[in-house]
Amino acid sequence: MKDLSMLSFTRTRTQQRTNRSLSLSAMDLEDPKKKTNFLGNIIMAAALTALFILMLKQSPSFNTPTQFSRHEAGVTHVLVTGGAGYIGSHAALRLLKDSYRVTIMDNLSRGNLGAIKVLQQLFPQSGRLQFIYADLGDKKSVNKIFSENAFDAVMHFAAVAYVGESTLDPLKYYHNITSNTLVVLEAMAAHGVKTLIYSSTCATYGEPEKMPITEETPQHPINPYGKAKKMAEDIILDFHKNSDMAVMILRYFNVIGSDADGMLGESPRPELREHGRISGACFDAARGIIPGLKVRGTDYKTTDGTCIRDYIDVTDLVDAHVKALEKAKPSHIGVYNVGTGRGRSVKEFVEACKTATGVPIKVDFLPRRPGDYAEVYSDPTKIRSELNWTAKHTNLNESLLIAWTWQKAHLDGYGTPQLMSAQI
Ligand SMILES: NC(=O)c1ccc[n+]([C@@H]2O[C@H](COP(=O)([O-])OP(=O)(O)OC[C@H]3O[C@@H](n4cnc5c(N)ncnc54)[C@H](O)[C@@H]3O)[C@@H](O)[C@H]2O)c1
Ligand SMILES: *[C@@H]1O[C@H](CO)[C@@H](O)[C@H](O)[C@H]1NC(C)=O
Ligand SMILES: *[C@@H]1O[C@H](CO)[C@@H](O)[C@H](O)[C@H]1NC(C)=O
Ligand SMILES: *[C@@H]1O[C@H](CO)[C@@H](O)[C@H](O)[C@H]1NC(C)=O
Ligand SMILES: *[C@@H]1O[C@H](CO)[C@@H](O)[C@H](O)[C@H]1NC(C)=O
Repeated sequence: MKDLSMLSFTRTRTQQRTNRSLSLSAMDLEDPKKKTNFLGNIIMAAALTALFILMLKQSPSFNTPTQFSRHEAGVTHVLVTGGAGYIGSHAALRLLKDSYRVTIMDNLSRGNLGAIKVLQQLFPQSGRLQFIYADLGDKKSVNKIFSENAFDAVMHFAAVAYVGESTLDPLKYYHNITSNTLVVLEAMAAHGVKTLIYSSTCATYGEPEKMPITEETPQHPINPYGKAKKMAEDIILDFHKNSDMAVMILRYFNVIGSDADGMLGESPRPELREHGRISGACFDAARGIIPGLKVRGTDYKTTDGTCIRDYIDVTDLVDAHVKALEKAKPSHIGVYNVGTGRGRSVKEFVEACKTATGVPIKVDFLPRRPGDYAEVYSDPTKIRSELNWTAKHTNLNESLLIAWTWQKAHLDGYGTPQLMSAQI
């Protein structure tokens, strides 16, 4: 684990200093007659120092911190907050494949150390990937991390991200979304980090009457999650008016899928399953963890009566992030919807899930759930024309098959402790 080697690096350096002074004074005490023999002491100290440096050089983490702490021509160093999470880990994978230098900051409150381990195994070379265990709510440690590392850009994913949970525990959302974004922004400003890519959401639009949703659609969020994200956007926009920072705000629609090579997947904590998303519920039903799927609402004014959503594959989503990063310009702010532009009904989604899993999942059709809106899908024209991005993985069968393949091979997620899987 890079975080641990980072820690041990700093510890070793302190130890090195302490040990050296200790051994010198020990010699002084033991042999007062030789006290004048400074040369001997100096040679001894030099030998010890050389030994320590040798030992440090053998540890792979020796070069790492210096590489991360210096800007290097031709290398873009991206801080990925929330990089242990579902989308953040996929973004880190893509950045690493594209030769970016990546630092992941995450406090593992929701993400998986297993995802970090996968990335470290794929990119073990020094100066590629570093993991820092830290809480974004802790302003002091965030500032320390910014002062010790030379970031060129930040992709800010870290957040709590469940609509249902946000209505039950709104303060958690305002704290971990809005307030933490302020901490990130302040640290970026204080340390001259010039580019920000921000994870926002279609939940900031609320319930617009007109479909599809464009970036001009008025934002009237209807739950604390959407409101907290909108507030964070507003803070970024206001700050930007007086800054030369390059900012890209990406508003994602419903994210599904996992990387095609099967290295990473979506693996939320068992206790979050109840707030979970439709693909997770489908897979749980296919595995028999839950008895079946409950589809709420069959009398919406849609083609088949069930709700319509815009499902975006995570591979396309992280591609949009890289394009946004490449096209970010100082003093410029870009706001983009990231969706396919096509709505799919819940019934369609469930059929695709049955196809992908090969399991005839039991579906119960129930009355509407209050607060659900009939139809949400994006107009992705702007991102296509300005960033040359368009969704490529738009076959639900295929996206879900890739995600299911990972799920089947990781019945225990990234290796959940027995205690936790027992709670499922
Ligand atoms: N999944 C979706 O469908 C979706 C849709 C729209 C927007 N988003 C946004 O995308 C981002 C990532 O979402 P995700 O689905 O990958 O969620 P996730 O829960 O899988 O990942 C979030 C990560 O942030 C970390 N984190 C949370 N609070 C932290 C803190 N205080 N300090 C350090 N780390 C912290 C968690 O440990 C976790 O690893 C979020 O900002 C979310 O709002 C997601
Ligand atoms: C993660 O950060 C939040 C604050 O944002 C904190 O309340 C929580 O205890 C932290 N979790 C861990 C495991 O450090
Ligand atoms: C979010 O913030 C609250 C404090 O408001 C804290 O209790 C919680 O642990 C934090 N982190 C997460 C991941 O919920
Ligand atoms: C847009 O992207 C496509 C690949 O998706 C590429 O072939 C094309 O050259 C790009 N166009 C511009 C103007 O960059
Ligand atoms: C998805 O799979 C189903 C069942 O095999 C098939 O009927 C449907 O045409 C497929 N959809 C696409 C877009 O490939």
